[in-house]
Amino acid sequence: MEGVSLEALAKRHGTPLYVYSADHIAQRFDMFARAFAPVSHLICFAVKANSALAILQLLEKRGAGFDIVSGGELERVLAVNKKAAERVVFSGVGKTAPEMDLALRSGILLFHVESEGELELLAERASKLRKWAAVSLRVNPDVFAETHPYISTGLREHKFGIEMARARKVYRAVAKHKYLEARGVSVHIGSQIRMAEPFGAAAERVAALIGQLRKDGHGIRFLDAGGGLGIEYQAGLEDASFDPAERVQQYAAALLQAVAKAPEITLLLEPGRFLVAQAGALVTRVLYRKQNGAKHFVIVDAAMNDLIRPALYQAHHEIVPVIPRRNAKPIVADIVGPVCETGDFFARDRAMAAVREGELLAILDAGAYGMSLSSNYNSRVRPAEVLVSGKRARLIRRRETINDLLAPEKF
Ligand code: LLP
Repeated sequence: MEGVSLEALAKRHGTPLYVYSADHIAQRFDMFARAFAPVSHLICFAVKANSALAILQLLEKRGAGFDIVSGGELERVLAVNKKAAERVVFSGVGKTAPEMDLALRSGILLFHVESEGELELLAERASKLRKWAAVSLRVNPDVFAETHPYISTGLREHKFGIEMARARKVYRAVAKHKYLEARGVSVHIGSQIRMAEPFGAAAERVAALIGQLRKDGHGIRFLDAGGGLGIEYQAGLEDASFDPAERVQQYAAALLQAVAKAPEITLLLEPGRFLVAQAGALVTRVLYRKQNGAKHFVIVDAAMNDLIRPALYQAHHEIVPVIPRRNAKPIVADIVGPVCETGDFFARDRAMAAVREGELLAILDAGAYGMSLSSNYNSRVRPAEVLVSGKRARLIRRRETINDLLAPEKF
């Protein structure tokens, strides 16, 4: 990765090991920034995709804002730079009073409110603390976007957002509260969406709503178009020619067209996956090979607790040998982890080059929703993380120890 040997990193830090390329993340961020340069905008990295402090810091230094969904994520941003709070938007359907208090005290940019109940609580907390809160309602545009059903969010049947038709009424309620100010409208239709059209359609609806809200007298300054731009996980499909810069250009074109209908607006964007997914690999060592009947299994030392995407969404990740071996026979195998669940697999019936016990594999495109979705299931400690830049590699999170796991418990 960049100028660093993954084999050397695996030897030094052990496996499973997450490794990220800092330059790749910076390039993706700059690519986004260039595409949206024609308008006033702020790119708020979706912290949930990868919440490593070193990665947040890297993005913060490039001027990124942050999309958070919990007090914990806000604490991470504050740990990197307290001043970055002014570039934070707070999403999520279940914000609690302590989370609101922390956000109010830190002076975040915008609360994305998702229900009337939440609005009432926010008004109460804001007046109690005498802190002013800028509010945007997350509206549900009822736009269909083709993606996995677990990560599609823009339809009326989903738990997210407030119905478009009720939005004006709720904004009137915002205006009545002394400490609340209606400042934006936000939308997020889902994740891993690879076409520009649904983003454009949702933003059009939001832009139209902004026009109405301005007529109603609200000082709307922000249109938050959410995140969700997808990548290609699978090599060799029809999209093998996937060019990320082109993808961002198309995405930006669709959004900019919609935004033109809401003059003097600052566009907020919440990309997660697109910035970090392809910057990261999960390096794992082959423990055993075995055969059950006609089936080959490659058992590796990473498991579903380290990277749950294949188990949870049947997601595809390319898996390649770290050091390709010449003359390796082609095989078809399931690549599985040590966890006691049949769902603990990284690939099924995958055509691959035969690997030997002890060799290293890299599970690609694991930089988003990998470590951040990991767990300690089976009392497995979480992997270490390394950030690579040029020829330098930096350990940004040590491997957990069993003491880390046992410390909170009593018996
Ligand atoms: N903004 C909001 C309000 C979101 O809910 C999300 C993702 C994002 C932005 C960032 O979306 P992105 O640009 O990363 O697609 N664990 C799943 C993805 C869950 C996405 C949840 N929300 C996966 O591994 O595919």
